[in-house]
Amino acid sequence: MAKKLYIKTHGCQMNEYDSAKMMDLLKEEDFELAESEDQADLLILNTCSIREKAQEKVFHQIGRWRKIKEEKPELKIAIGGCVASQEGEDIIKRAPAVDIVFGPQTLHRLPDLYKNKEKTNENQIDISFPKLEKFNYLPVSGTGKPSAFISIAEGCNKYCSFCVVPKTRGHEVSRSVEDILNEVSVLADKGTKEINFLGQNVNNFKGTYRGEKSSLAKLIELSSKIQNIERIRFTTSHPHEFKDDLVEVYDKVPELVSHVHLPVQSGSDKILKLMRRRYNAEEYLKLVERIRAVRPDMSFSSDFIVGFPGETKDDFQETMNIINEVQFDESFSFIYSPRPNTTASKMPDDVLLQEKKERLDILQSRLNQLSFGFSRKKVGTIQSCLIYGQSRRDPGQLQGRTICNRIVNFQSNKIDLVGRMVNIHIQEALPNSLRGSIEN
Ligand code: SAH
Ligand code: F3S
Repeated sequence: MAKKLYIKTHGCQMNEYDSAKMMDLLKEEDFELAESEDQADLLILNTCSIREKAQEKVFHQIGRWRKIKEEKPELKIAIGGCVASQEGEDIIKRAPAVDIVFGPQTLHRLPDLYKNKEKTNENQIDISFPKLEKFNYLPVSGTGKPSAFISIAEGCNKYCSFCVVPKTRGHEVSRSVEDILNEVSVLADKGTKEINFLGQNVNNFKGTYRGEKSSLAKLIELSSKIQNIERIRFTTSHPHEFKDDLVEVYDKVPELVSHVHLPVQSGSDKILKLMRRRYNAEEYLKLVERIRAVRPDMSFSSDFIVGFPGETKDDFQETMNIINEVQFDESFSFIYSPRPNTTASKMPDDVLLQEKKERLDILQSRLNQLSFGFSRKKVGTIQSCLIYGQSRRDPGQLQGRTICNRIVNFQSNKIDLVGRMVNIHIQEALPNSLRGSIEN
C-alpha cells in the first residue's frame, strides 16, 4: 500500500518550489499525499530562518507533530530548509521526535534518508552543499497550472550584513540554460502559460548556454520563444546586478511583465553601506529611471528593513523619501532581526523596539496608501489578465493577475477560462486586489 506524505512549507517562493519537488520525488517512491497530518506516514517541514519569528515557528510545529507521533510511533518526521541547514543535529537534540534533518541542497536525497531511517532506525542528518547535484535528480514534471516557478540559481554570495541566506543555502550556483529551457518546455506542454524564474539573486544568473556563460536576459529571450509561454517573471533581483542587457530586454520581450521586485531595504546611504548592499540611493533611483525609460508603466515593489543598527530618525526619513520618489507598489517590510553568524548581529542594536515598531507603522501606512492609489487608478481600465483559477473565498468567482501583478476577481463560472488571457473591465479597487467583469 502506498505510504502517505504531508508537507508543510514556511517562508519564501523558493521553499514552495523545493516542497513541490520533494512531492514529485517521493511520488516516484510510491508515496501519495495525505489529506491531513494525522493520516501521514511521513511529515515534512520545510523551514525558513530569514527572521527570528520564522525560526520560532519550527519548534512549535514539531511540538504539535510530536503529539501525533506519540499515538503513532512508526510516523517519521523530517525537517528541511534553512533552519535545518543552520541548526543541523541540534534540531534532534532539542526535539528528539525528529528522525531526518536535510538541507535545501540535499532534498533530492530525502527518499534515501527515509529508507535508511526505516532500515536502521538511526537518525539521518545531511545538510551538506553538493553543488547543483540535486537538479540532476529532481524529476521535471508539468504541473498543469497556469503559473509555475522554476528555480534557476541556488544560494547567494552577496553576504548582505543582515542576511543568513549565504550561510543556509550556500554559494551561488546557476543551472545551465538548456536545463532550464527543458523545464520551461515540459511545463508549457502541460498548459503552463506563466513562468516565474527564481533565485535569491536571480539577475546575477550566470548559467551556461552552448558551453558559454549566459545571462538572465538571454534566458528570458529564449524562454519567450517557447510555444504557449505568455508571461515571464523573475524574482528576486539585486539592484547592483541589474545590468543594461536586462533593462533592454523589457523592450524586446513583451512577455516580460511590467512588474519587478527590486528590494532597496533602506533609502539612507549610511545604512545601505552598513547593510553591505553595494549601491546608494542615487544609483537605485537612476536604475528605476532607466527601467521606466524602457517601460513607462513599470511597477516596482521592494523589501524594507526598519530599525537596522545605527538607523537614526534622519536615516528613516531618507527611506520614506525614496518610497515617495519611486512610488513603490505592494512591498514587504520588516523590523530588523539579528541572525546568527551575520556581521550585523555583532553591531550594537541601538534602536528601541518601540521606535522600530513606530517606524514600521509609518512606513507600512505609506506603502498601503500608495498601493491603494495604484489600484484606484486601474478602475475604469481594461486589463489583460492571466486567469489562475477559482477565487479561494468564492468558487463563483475566477481570479487572475494583471500584467502589473494585481490580483483581479470577477464573477464567472466558466472554468475553461483558467489558463487563458482574458480582458477584464476593472470596476472596483480594494486595498489588495481589484474587482471587475469580463469585457464583452
Ligand atoms: N534575495 C532574497 C532576499 C532574501 S530575504 C530573495 O530572493 O527574496 C527577503 C527579505 O527579508 C530581504 O529582502 C530583507 O528585506 C528581509 N530580511 C532578510 N534578513 C533580515 C533580517 N535579518 N531582519 C529583517 N529582515 C530581513
Ligand atoms: Fe540575502 Fe543579500 Fe543574498 S538579502 S539572499 S545576502 S542578496
